[in-house]
Formats: sequence, structure tokens, C-alpha cells
Amino acid sequence: MIILKTQNAIIEQIIEVKSAGKTIGFVPTMGALHQGHLALVKKCVAENDVAIVSIFVNPTQFNNADDLACYPRNLDADAALLENAGCKIVFAPNVNEIYNEQEIKKPFEFDFQGLDTVMEGVFRPNHFNGVVQIVSKLFLLVQPDRAYFGEKDFQQLAIIRLMTKTLNFPVKIVGCPIIREESGLAFSSRNALLTEKEREIAAHIYAVLTESKTFFNHTSVEELKSCVTAAIERKEPLKVEYFEIIDGNTLQNIEKWENSDYIIGCLTVYCGKVRLIDNIKYV
Ligand code: PAJ
Repeated sequence: MIILKTQNAIIEQIIEVKSAGKTIGFVPTMGALHQGHLALVKKCVAENDVAIVSIFVNPTQFNNADDLACYPRNLDADAALLENAGCKIVFAPNVNEIYNEQEIKKPFEFDFQGLDTVMEGVFRPNHFNGVVQIVSKLFLLVQPDRAYFGEKDFQQLAIIRLMTKTLNFPVKIVGCPIIREESGLAFSSRNALLTEKEREIAAHIYAVLTESKTFFNHTSVEELKSCVTAAIERKEPLKVEYFEIIDGNTLQNIEKWENSDYIIGCLTVYCGKVRLIDNIKYV
């Protein structure tokens, strides 16, 4: 496995891989890798000749300076996990290698065709512009045949699919299921910021979501939303930022269960200071 830090180095490698007629699979990440990331990497290794993983904590998608500063980073540990998973190339540039000052200061603007008017798009202004900005740059550099994204970031996956179609990237986007800790808590780089006690409490989020699946269609959409929110907040210090029940394709809120045949409940919960995101498929 090689670790590349510059645009020139990755471009050279891509030319070599492409001219040998090999397929490229790509997993973009922000590092602090866990089993959720590694599931994407293993699928990528299995389905492509060469698996490339990027590690880049993208400043333009953070709308909170503290969140960016506190984001966990550990390149050595990440590299060991990736080598073990069969990754061939790691691209880990620093910020100046990717952006000039202008690009960092001035928000990038993408037309999300409505996909950003809900959930993360509302609570994290400009977040998805930053995501599209970095993923489009990485796609141009890496030129993958397939790229792997987790369903944990449900809205991000929908937006990446839209971006790929709108900008005509010849890349197949592969969505991958949420990987969870034994307790049910979805693996997340941010879990490292939880105390042991908070980590235990955070498992309550998935327990409530799972239970809601057993009775969701006996109650109205609105009732289920308040019921799930109240049940989660019964455990301190959990605080629900939003819980939306949406159509999985349009991401728009549904008012009645019969309004869609692909229904996802998406939420964000603060456990103390740590912001956790999760979702569950109802139909
Ligand atoms: P990051 O949070 O590091 O996640 C990288 C990829 O891993 C994303 O596609 C995410 O959905 C997936 N992932 C994270 N936790 C997962 C879990 N428990 N189960 C399954 N997949 C999981 O998402 C980003 O980085 C960034 O926004 C990025 C796309 C790299 C752009 O900067």
C-alpha cells in the first residue's frame, strides 16, 4: 500500500493503473476509521482491481469551527487498518494541496434540486456544498469506476447520486448498509468523542428506532415523530435535533404512510456535545 500526499503523485498513479486497464474503486473518507468505513473498503477491494481510499478532513463542509478543530485524526492507525483491508492506494493530501484560499473563503454553490431543503441541509447550512465540492474534486483526480458511500449519511448518499448524474461523472455509486456496534449504536468517527457512559446511553437511539418499526403503521406519521423523539429524550443527555420521516427518493417529508413505498426515518441526536446521526428504513 502506498500513501500519497500530492495531486501530482495521485495523477501519476491513476495514469499507470488506467493504462494497465485496471478498474478503480474509491472510498472517500475523513479518516478516524472504524468498522463502518472498513465495510465500504472491503466491498471496494472485492469489486475492483485497485482500491483507493482518501483521507481528508474537508474544511468546507464544516459549519462549526470547533467541530472541525475537534474532529479526530490519526493517519498512522488509519493506514494500518487500510493495509489490512486490502487497500492499495491512500490519498491523504493536506488542505493547501486541494484548495486555494479563495475556494475556502467563498462558498461553492451546487443546485440540489430540493434535496437540501430538509434535515442536514437545514441544520448545517452549506454543508452539502462543501461535500459536493470535495467529492467532485476527488472524482476528477481519482477517476473511479465505482465509488462507495454509506447509507448512514442517507441524505449525503442521495446528493452524491444527484451530483454524479448532474455533472455526468462516469462513476457507479454504490450505497452500503449501516454498520453498528454490538450495542446497536452506528459506528461513527464522532463516537470517539463520547465518554464510556455516553456511549452506553447513545445505544438507546437505535433501540428506540428499532422498536418504532414494530408499531409505526398503527399510528400517524406525526404521532410517531413525537413518540420517538420523547422516547429518546427520556435518557439524558440525549437531545433530538430533528427526526424526519421522508420518502427515500425525494427526501421530502411524508404526511401519511400511504404517500410512499420507500420510507426512511432520519434523525440527529446530540449526546452531550456530540452530534450523532442515524436512520431506519420503515418500508
Ligand atoms: P466520513 O464521515 O469519514 O464517512 C466516509 C464514508 O463512510 C461515508 O460514505 C459514510 O456514510 C460511511 N460511513 C460512516 N459510518 C458508517 C457506518 N456506521 N456504516 C456504514 N457506512 C458508514 O462522509 C464523509 O466522511 C464525508 O462527507 C466525505 C464523503 C468523505 C466528503 O468529505
